[in-house]
Amino acid sequence: MRLRNKPWAKPLIDANPQYVVTEPEKFAGKWQERFEKEQPIFVEVGTGKGRFIVEMAEKYPDRNFIGLEMQTVAVGIALKKQIDAKLPNLQLVCANGSGLTEFFNEGEVSGIYLNFSDPWPKKRNEKRRLTYKTFLESYENVLNGDGRIEFKTDNRGLFEYSLCSMNEFGMHFDGVWLDLHDSEEAKENVMTEYEEKFSQKGQPIYKLTAHF
Ligand SMILES: C[S@@+](CC[C@H](N)C(=O)[O-])C[C@H]1O[C@@H](n2cnc3c(N)ncnc32)[C@H](O)[C@@H]1O
Repeated sequence: MRLRNKPWAKPLIDANPQYVVTEPEKFAGKWQERFEKEQPIFVEVGTGKGRFIVEMAEKYPDRNFIGLEMQTVAVGIALKKQIDAKLPNLQLVCANGSGLTEFFNEGEVSGIYLNFSDPWPKKRNEKRRLTYKTFLESYENVLNGDGRIEFKTDNRGLFEYSLCSMNEFGMHFDGVWLDLHDSEEAKENVMTEYEEKFSQKGQPIYKLTAHF
């Protein structure tokens, strides 16, 4: 997803350093300082316009959340939501998720969310998929022992690829849903912007949770 440039986004980010981190490597091992309370940290990689991470932070005040996104415009849109909500347990990070091991110390993270990640269907772009083995390596590094990955997508090809990639990596699956919205799991589900769009078109939403 490429968003059209919005000239207000960068100035808004610069004016709100209390909510957005642009040099996340400076906080490796020190993320708890960014939050009001010291509590488990959950990271969404590719947070887009921020609906999911904002609603999760509202729903679970006993957890700290970080929405990581590489597009400045998307971070700006997510930031507008946080400026309204003023959640003490939410931080946004404007950076590429490929640097995760520089941004967090080993075991600093309790959970990782991947929601509607870009599918990169061409084989030559496999390394960009957020469930490619190098990304899995970095998730394993930053997650604590009990840490889980939760992955949702409408894209069947990416879902199948991710199941294989995680399985080959030796990960263990806690749950797999082929139609999330028609399952018990839907009760506690928090929707993303993409999820609403695709489910309204009648497409099934796939979900998996897994650990190392
Ligand atoms: C298709 S959108 C989905 C957005 C949101 N998660 C949702 O479900 O509505 C994928 C998002 O992931 C971001 N993204 C893709 N690769 C990324 C990476 N390596 N690091 C950070 N963000 C990334 C893109 O910029 C885009 O905003």
